[in-house]
Amino acid sequence: MQNITTTLKKLFYLWRRSQVPLKQPIKISRIDNLIIFLVCILISIISSYKLLLISPLNVADIFSWLLTFTEILISSGILILVSKKENPTISSRQIFLIITLLLGVQATKLVLASTISPLSIIIPPALIISQGMGSITALTWVSIASFSWPDPAVAINNNLFFILLVCSSVVSLLGGRIRSRAQLLQLSIFVPIGSFLSQWILIGKDKITLTNNQDFVLANRDIFSDSLLLAIVMLFTILFIPIFESIFGLLTKARLLELADKEKPLIRRLSLEAPGTFEHTLLICGLAEEATRMIGGDIDLVKTGALYHDVGKLHAPNWFIENQDGLINPHDELDDPIKSAEVLQAHVDEGLKFARKNRLPKLISNFIPEHQGTLKMGYFFQKAKEKNLDINEYYFRYKGPIPQSKETAILMLADGCEAALRAMNINASDNEALGTISNIIYSREKDGQLDDSNLSKGEIFLIKRAFLNVWKRIRHRRIQYPTSKNNTFS
Ligand SMILES: [Fe+2]
Ligand SMILES: [Fe+2]
Repeated sequence: MQNITTTLKKLFYLWRRSQVPLKQPIKISRIDNLIIFLVCILISIISSYKLLLISPLNVADIFSWLLTFTEILISSGILILVSKKENPTISSRQIFLIITLLLGVQATKLVLASTISPLSIIIPPALIISQGMGSITALTWVSIASFSWPDPAVAINNNLFFILLVCSSVVSLLGGRIRSRAQLLQLSIFVPIGSFLSQWILIGKDKITLTNNQDFVLANRDIFSDSLLLAIVMLFTILFIPIFESIFGLLTKARLLELADKEKPLIRRLSLEAPGTFEHTLLICGLAEEATRMIGGDIDLVKTGALYHDVGKLHAPNWFIENQDGLINPHDELDDPIKSAEVLQAHVDEGLKFARKNRLPKLISNFIPEHQGTLKMGYFFQKAKEKNLDINEYYFRYKGPIPQSKETAILMLADGCEAALRAMNINASDNEALGTISNIIYSREKDGQLDDSNLSKGEIFLIKRAFLNVWKRIRHRRIQYPTSKNNTFS
């Protein structure tokens, strides 16, 4: 009996260790919450008020109105919860976007339900949401928008409703994965063609009017004009996606890949003015990418974030070990550990200035301060102690914040391991490399740097294995840093 209890306790302990620690939910101000709630009420009113217009009104009608009203209100709440779950860093602006699009659909239904097909109204917003906030949020939005579409006064064809659900689900699923504007363009051509063919098969050939001279676009229940309108609205949506990106701070895959282009001026400058930092950045990209793939995180985000994490070093490239030729070290000439620590902190502050100037999205600029977290600049702190300076450790720590996401935490760990892995002997065994990686990661963990990152113990284990795999791949083209003693400020 005691054995069973011990085993159960052990299992419970292991299960708890493998769980992701709870993270504080994002804070949305009271006024934003109130506005969001009011918009949800408005959506519910628009979708249900027609049920009260029936005369004579009886109790059953009022009950049915109340039911529809509550249904839509609860659905809107679920939509917000799902979007928060899929995007833990979602801002109130982005929540406004989701519910405003839902409100837009309801308002359009009110005005145009009898003349326009729901396809052109529901599919394009689904594309914006899936691109900016992911497929699950888009699918939830689509289901609420579609089920609240049927207007009591306008009969909707069941087949059309089915086609609407299929097409919008396809757009939601593919939209979240699409990695270039060209693929978006293909989607905006193939979805209308698909909807045209399926309507032709399921609804009937008699509804097609290929040569409709009048009311070409808004022709009543005309399959061809409906599909053409859908294609036009989708093309316009693609044109406007960059505007949505900047207004609502959306970070689409296409935008991420554009930013990851090494010909971008800031990255070009890094490669020319700070070649050592550029090399360091490339290796970190490899380490972080592999680790993020292992834990199922956002690879494109981490790759792009890694590319920009040290751009702040452009303010004084030769003050960083990887850009020195091994002969002159300005820190030795300065001989002031406090001033040296200020130069190191400046690479974060200047990096944030570069990010603002180059209009980098918030999710990318977060990598700049979070990759250093509140780490101690051990080398200079030690120097200060050697000089018997009575100084608080606080002045030798980066200002933070500590990593707030799995991706920025992975970058911090990759940043810490990169110099050590480069400097490692070519004949070192896998166990030695793993030992070095584990020590560095453990020191970050013990220092509390991973507390807000949501990384579980299991994920940290996978990250270690990923770093080891990358080291095994690159050890044959290892480049030794001038000294390993100075790794502390790389
Ligand atoms: Fe850095
Ligand atoms: Fe770095």
